[in-house]
Amino acid sequence: MLLPTDLETARRLSVAPMLDWTDRHCRYFHRLLSKNVLLYTEMVNVNAILHGDAHRHLDFNAAEHPIVLQLGGSEPDLLARCAKIAKNWGYDEVNINCGCPSERVQSGAFGACLMHEPHLVADAVKAMRDAADIEVSVKHRIGLDKNQDYDFVRDFVGVLAQAGVRVFVVHARNAWLKGLSPKENRDIPPLRYEVVHRLKQDFPDLHISLNGGIKDYSTIEQALNYVDGAMVGRWFYHEPFVLAQADARIFGNDHTLEVSRESVLEQLVEYAQSQIEQGVPLRNMTRHWLNLFHGVAGARRWRAQLSDAQLLKKNDAHLLLCNLPRDFSEVGDE
Ligand SMILES: Cc1cc2nc3c(=O)[nH]c(=O)nc-3n(C[C@H](O)[C@H](O)[C@H](O)COP(=O)(O)O)c2cc1C
Repeated sequence: MLLPTDLETARRLSVAPMLDWTDRHCRYFHRLLSKNVLLYTEMVNVNAILHGDAHRHLDFNAAEHPIVLQLGGSEPDLLARCAKIAKNWGYDEVNINCGCPSERVQSGAFGACLMHEPHLVADAVKAMRDAADIEVSVKHRIGLDKNQDYDFVRDFVGVLAQAGVRVFVVHARNAWLKGLSPKENRDIPPLRYEVVHRLKQDFPDLHISLNGGIKDYSTIEQALNYVDGAMVGRWFYHEPFVLAQADARIFGNDHTLEVSRESVLEQLVEYAQSQIEQGVPLRNMTRHWLNLFHGVAGARRWRAQLSDAQLLKKNDAHLLLCNLPRDFSEVGDE
């Protein structure tokens, strides 16, 4: 088996943090598909860690390394305490969410609205770095509302770089804080990759990853001509098997080592069995695995059974092996 790759290499390609989607079962699945990509947790609110069920929010499988914990919060002391907890929990990095535009997040004074307060984020970063020996990265947008002024994002990055942030993940869209739902905010504000390229030119010593709207490997490869890494969210979630090409295409591994759907499935059954023994309901896991056969003829029945509440209630991991598409390689419209 290949060893998990190091953090710096992994940054070339990451799977985006996605609330309700990239939980530990989803990440374990993604790790089976690629040994090298960097995985992110969903955003976890600092108060959920400090006052809620920390194990539920933070536990992960050792196979998931390298893994980044994304935090939602703005108060330096709370973020610092969470950075220390993250380090002790074994996370490789913590990331501050400065890109999420949802109302709920705004009222908690974190997410994209923090781009208006770079000095507060800088104070938080300093407190986190003082509290724990762990990389603190930032995920953000290229601007807020209709402001297309490049200086705004350049100054945001500049202030944080002064505070010691070395790694930035930039969703190449503005966040419109009023009038759009979070979902609309991932589609409607126009993508402007050139702004992210310019950040890399202006801050050559920083790691800059580009995020937003990537749906094929050639876009990733092109992005890597300008910046240090690419982050992909929805494409990898909806068509997870494309991740199986990442190790060869992006990390230079031998393509004959590429995993097959069969081997992934076998490992998922094993994983699901052990999770069920620990009390995790099968349905909590399978919901993230439904797209394994995306695009394969005959996959509909397989997917339907894994969404069937009655069948899932039996908590039998072998359900994953029933009604498999006859020929995994036969691509069709299902
Ligand atoms: C369901 C969903 C949940 C998301 N949750 C988060 C989150 O918790 N933290 C975050 O920084 N971004 C979140 N995002 C945004 C993604 O990380 C990413 O920036 C965005 O989807 C654009 O990348 P894509 O076009 O490759 O999907 C979420 C996106 C989706 C689709």
